[in-house]
Amino acid sequence: MTHDGIFDEVNDAKVDMAHLYDQADPRAYCRELKKFDYKIPSVAKPVFKKLISCMRRYRKGTICLLDLGCSYGVNAALLKHDLSITDLYDHWGQQRLVSATPTEIMDYDQRFFGHLSKASDIEVIGLDVADKAVSFAEEVGLLDDALSINLENETLTDAAKAKLRTVDLVMSTGCVGYITETSFDKLLSAFRGQKPWIANFVLRVFPFDVIEKTLKQYGYVTEKLDGKTFVQRKCGTNEERSQMLGKLRQRRIEPMEKEIDGYLLAEFYISRPKSDALMDPLSGLLTAREMQDA
Ligand SMILES: C[S@@+](CC[C@H](N)C(=O)[O-])C[C@H]1O[C@@H](n2cnc3c(N)ncnc32)[C@H](O)[C@@H]1O
Repeated sequence: MTHDGIFDEVNDAKVDMAHLYDQADPRAYCRELKKFDYKIPSVAKPVFKKLISCMRRYRKGTICLLDLGCSYGVNAALLKHDLSITDLYDHWGQQRLVSATPTEIMDYDQRFFGHLSKASDIEVIGLDVADKAVSFAEEVGLLDDALSINLENETLTDAAKAKLRTVDLVMSTGCVGYITETSFDKLLSAFRGQKPWIANFVLRVFPFDVIEKTLKQYGYVTEKLDGKTFVQRKCGTNEERSQMLGKLRQRRIEPMEKEIDGYLLAEFYISRPKSDALMDPLSGLLTAREMQDA
């Protein structure tokens, strides 16, 4: 069984934002996502930060993150700098940047991010099918390395595999659903001996069981954070809201109050080698502090 059919059906029912994903700079992306109160990167930030601090028990030195569906480097910006998604919306939405060219935005951002204080103990590799978005993020210094690839239908080159060999933590927000078990299978076979933790925020409308089974074949145990949901964004239209409620009910998931009110909710899954999961069960890993909606 694969996820393809279910994922495609849900994606067809969601508001289509594909035209925003691969522009020369993030202004249009931010302008539109702000309207939907897209906030999952900010909500996820404390969870990723806690995982990074836990990993220090296992890994010395710089922790290397791989951000799946990294887009313009949003998660990297939040984790490296003291920023929230609202700060990025304000930054890329500044009136004085409206008529700037993408090259001017890039120059401006190299200086802007270059002057901010920065976590020196993490590096971020970004992976996204959106070539222009990852190039932008790499150029302005948000990403330390970038892979512009669609693992759903392409294969990793040897050079790309070599880049992945330093990864300690794979993370994603808003990406599962666009990527399926196919992408995870290719990534896991590229990792070879190393066993990074894999942390995904996944919309409740998307099943995670097939990805979980795929990861299990590589010795991974997946835990879902029970009893906690994270706001990803508001639905764009009433039509999207009712379609999403319908998709949840089709999967026999009773919509929550916030979903009925028009929000899309994500859940958190962490997949780790069995020994790591046994030593640090998810139930003891996160506190209420990391689980607050931003
Ligand atoms: C909703 S955006 C999320 C971006 C970012 N993670 C965030 O939360 O701000 C989804 C991202 O997934 C990317 N994407 C879509 N299909 C993909 C694929 N097959 N492989 C990698 N990335 C993909 C898009 O280009 C886009 O950047």
